[in-house]
Amino acid sequence: MKYLITGGSGFIGSHLVRLLLKDNKNFVHNLDKLTYASNKNLFDTKNHKRYSFKKLDINDYNRVYKELALFKPDIVFNLAAETHVDRSIINSRDFILANILGTFTLLQATQKYLNNIYKKNKERKFKFIHISTDEVYGSLSKNKKHFTENSNYLPNSPYSASKASADHIIRAWFKTYDFPVITTHCSNNYGPNQNYEKFIPMIITNALNHKPITIYGTGTQLRDWIHVEDHVRALKIISQKGKIGETYNIGSNNLKKNIDLARIICKYLNSISKNKKINYLDYIIFVKDRLGHDFKYAINTSKINKKIKWKSQINFKEGLYKTVDWYIKNQNKGLR
Ligand SMILES: NC(=O)c1ccc[n+]([C@@H]2O[C@H](COP(=O)([O-])OP(=O)(O)OC[C@H]3O[C@@H](n4cnc5c(N)ncnc54)[C@H](O)[C@@H]3O)[C@@H](O)[C@H]2O)c1
Repeated sequence: MKYLITGGSGFIGSHLVRLLLKDNKNFVHNLDKLTYASNKNLFDTKNHKRYSFKKLDINDYNRVYKELALFKPDIVFNLAAETHVDRSIINSRDFILANILGTFTLLQATQKYLNNIYKKNKERKFKFIHISTDEVYGSLSKNKKHFTENSNYLPNSPYSASKASADHIIRAWFKTYDFPVITTHCSNNYGPNQNYEKFIPMIITNALNHKPITIYGTGTQLRDWIHVEDHVRALKIISQKGKIGETYNIGSNNLKKNIDLARIICKYLNSISKNKKINYLDYIIFVKDRLGHDFKYAINTSKINKKIKWKSQINFKEGLYKTVDWYIKNQNKGLR
């Protein structure tokens, strides 16, 4: 199979690239703008014969179309996006450009590719997998259990609003043009290679550098954590078994309060540290809450469990401790 991935140098994209390359029948072409959030080189894939890369912005219609026409993918995974909620509050424009206009441009280029090239080879089945987020559903109140695929769209941050807008465009392309798309909504990911600005890497690296671990508000916000390797496995299976026009929610039923998560990581660091005078819990401080901060995200995974036969496999504490170990090992190597 030939997979074209946008945002393949980002956190989730880089794990997806690695997973797909494990099958020696697969070829992967990665289109990425290489923003601050990316891994500048996919260190263990850069010399791979079945992996190729082009630095480009998905807003560049002509170049995106050229890459599609040359590579001729069977599957497109769209992960390219601006993703940090805090940054979206400070500079929403980048999010509108990358997440809304970028997705629109990619759709247009893919539509031309399908019309001009792909459909000549009629027996092949093309799918466009659009990676969205559970944040498009907004925030659950304490007594509301979880989001389903039928939950209303109620985005609260410029980031989630930009992702929600792209989802609506995607849906319209399916309904109007029969565009072969599947949309996924995943909960919060953790694992190696995530940018240091994100919550779990921030906790680990600030603790290791003896800096304050900043927790918004009272830290009671709830998030449903999934290991990135479980997420990309779901994406691969969805690209094989998913039904065109459908949406699938992906989660792992690991609901944690932000403050509890910070404490779990600090306690683990205490347990493995040689310097018993340091108590990493002391680095936790509370700061003014994020504007419009969502209280709770949680995912009902019944649809993907039943229809796709996918289930998360990685035990939360095991996955988290291994992630902490990875950051400790790689903290001075400039890797993430
Ligand atoms: N991280 C999460 O917890 C999570 C959860 C659910 C959904 N998602 C979605 O998954 C996708 C990937 O998330 P991530 O955490 O890996 O993000 P990331 O910020 O780590 O990586 C995004 C990648 O996209 C690239 N990019 C940004 N704008 C681009 C553009 N205009 N053209 C080409 N490339 C561009 C960046 O260079 C980067 O490599 C996003 O669409 C995000 O909304 C993320």
